[in-house]
Formats: sequence, C-alpha cells, structure tokens
Amino acid sequence: VLTLRDDERAVVAAMWAFRARSENQAAARFARIADRLDALEAPHTLRALARRSIEDERRHRGRCAALATRFGHASLEVELIEAPAPEVAPARLSPERRITYELVAFCCLTESINATLLTRSFAVATEPDSRVAMREILADEVQHARLGWAHLAQSNDRAWVSEHFTTMLEATVPEELRDPRIQSDPSPALRAHGVFARAELREILIECVDGVITPGFSLLGVDAEPIRTWMTNNVRQE
Ligand SMILES: [Fe+2]
Ligand SMILES: [Fe+2]
Repeated sequence: VLTLRDDERAVVAAMWAFRARSENQAAARFARIADRLDALEAPHTLRALARRSIEDERRHRGRCAALATRFGHASLEVELIEAPAPEVAPARLSPERRITYELVAFCCLTESINATLLTRSFAVATEPDSRVAMREILADEVQHARLGWAHLAQSNDRAWVSEHFTTMLEATVPEELRDPRIQSDPSPALRAHGVFARAELREILIECVDGVITPGFSLLGVDAEPIRTWMTNNVRQE
C-alpha cells in the first residue's frame, strides 16, 4: 500500500468530506421527492424506491463522514444537519411537472453521473476501505438513477423536459469538475484512493453523457440535442 504524504492525506480527507456534504444534500432531496410522489399518488414502486433512497443517502453520508475524519478531517457532525432541499424547478410549472423536473435533474442526470464516477473510482482505487465504501455507494446510486428513468418512462408528459436541459446541466454537472481539490496530476498514492485528474473527470462525464444519458432520453422520445450542444460548448472544448 502506498503511503500518503500529509498534504495528500488532507486531499483525501477533503474529498470524503465533499462527498459527505453531497450525500447529506441528496438525503434531503429524496425526502422531499418521496413526499411529493406520495402527494401525487405516484406508482407504489416509485414511492418505495424514493423512500429507500433517503435511507441510502443517510448511510452514505455516515460512511463518507467516517472516512473524512479517519483521514484527518475535523468532525462533520454539526455541519451535516439535514436542511430542506432548495427548490430547483421553475415555480410556473405544475406540481406534476415540478416533480418530473426534479427527478430528471437529480436522478437521470446527477445520479447517472455519480454512478459513472464511482464505477471509475472503484476501478482505479486500491485502498481497501475506500473500495468497500465505493462499492456499497455505487450499487445504491445506480438504483437512484433508475428512479428518474422509471418515472420518466411511465409519464406521458415528458417531451417539454428538453427545453430545461441547459439549466439543469449548469446546476447539476458534478461540482467535482470545478472542485479545486481535484489535482491536475495526482500521484499514484492519491489515485489509490480514487482521486482523479481534472482531464479524466471530464472524460468520465463525456462517457456517461454519450453512453447513458443522451441515449436514455432519446429512447423515451425526449430531444437530447440541447445536452449535446451544452457538452460541446462547456466540456469538450476545455
Ligand atoms: Fe449517495
Ligand atoms: Fe444517490
């Protein structure tokens, strides 16, 4: 096992703390999604999947926070209090369209990207504790992405989603891409913990969008062209 230098340990700690915060926000997000699916009397399977997702995200939060402190991060206990998730869908949309918007942005987009990122992290990471956490979280994130796709597939009001893709991508492309803690050229010791180079993260994003996201929407008759345009202008050119 490769030894981390002190500054590298801090990077690993910050990475897990960053993830713990994302998991915390995801828990709050699913709590509201579950309530809204109940209120709209959505199919039982979708409501059950949303409820389960809340518990998954809380478990992920705990795992990530534990790893952060193990690598030297200060306690995250106070910081990780669940606050209500901010509204993302435009207020002018109907309640039905608002939940569709939220599920597309967070499940079809964010969770699909998370799952691809974790798949790649798991493939390169060799540090045993990181691998255990990644594998467990990955299996759940795949289910969370499915909630969005399943909801969209059973809805017959979805073509309009296309006009919001640009806004959604601006807000949901993983912050990791802009995270200053991501290294331009991580050492083998950092890579063993699943730390990526910025250029690699961009590649992963392209792989997910081209391989999963745009085909998924096209299959459901939702025009994915705004996604391709946004990727060309914001990700491919850098
Ligand atoms: Fe999660
Ligand atoms: Fe998730």
